[in-house]
Amino acid sequence: MQNKAKSPTTTNPIAGKNTANVSGDKKSKIIKSKARVRERAEVFTQPREVNNILALTQATSNPYWRFLEPACGNGNFLEAILRQRLERLRQDRVEWHAKNREFSVLKVLSTIYGVDIAEDNIEECKKRLQTIVFEYLKKKSGGGFILAMNEIMRTNLIVGDMLGGKDQVYFVEYTTPMKNFFIRKVFALTNMEAGIEKAIEAFPMTKYDSLTPIDFSFLNKDTEAPPGVPEAGKQTNLFGELI
Ligand SMILES: C[S@@+](CC[C@H](N)C(=O)[O-])C[C@H]1O[C@@H](n2cnc3c(N)ncnc32)[C@H](O)[C@@H]1O
Repeated sequence: MQNKAKSPTTTNPIAGKNTANVSGDKKSKIIKSKARVRERAEVFTQPREVNNILALTQATSNPYWRFLEPACGNGNFLEAILRQRLERLRQDRVEWHAKNREFSVLKVLSTIYGVDIAEDNIEECKKRLQTIVFEYLKKKSGGGFILAMNEIMRTNLIVGDMLGGKDQVYFVEYTTPMKNFFIRKVFALTNMEAGIEKAIEAFPMTKYDSLTPIDFSFLNKDTEAPPGVPEAGKQTNLFGELI
């Protein structure tokens, strides 16, 4: 992460023809274009190096520890972390019931954060993580689960400028007060960097932190809504907001 692009939110004008392999396998491309290397130091880490580096860290020791990659590219590290954490769930036989398994996957996913200045990288990143989740779950997932998964990825995998645009970067903290329920709070990166006193303040403008915990499985159902869902029968995101 060295050079700053003009705008983190515009579609990237220098995207190369060779998009990186999104499956994260051995054929992953190291670069997308020379222009991107020049302008953003965009050189992707290969799977072997990713695994070697992760082995030196505690990133996957606990499947629920939060992990942020501030220049995540198209998700080489995030993919490996998600794979390793899900494998851990599998080995631990955490959950056999489908709904509990889905909740555990969402919980793991909610701990993984990535920021990159390039919009196309973040899109690829989301696709890669989604593919891994579906591979893990095997069976067809419910609509509520898919909505929740997309919502978590929308808040946790974000386009942002971690050098010149930190004041516009916000992170959503997910907590799980009880099985199948989530609460979220929003924190400003600049507050988090200002020290522990500031970091523990939730971003005051957020409406999310006042929300009642919500059961993700009710998101797409035409039945009586649980607390926190504003209108029964309407499609809402994880937090009961109409979408
Ligand atoms: C060396 S690549 C590493 C990508 C990924 N971490 C990996 O190992 O495959 C650096 C990444 O930083 C991103 N980047 C460059 N400047 C940035 C900035 N100011 N804020 C956020 N991301 C930035 C680039 O788009 C690129 O994806």
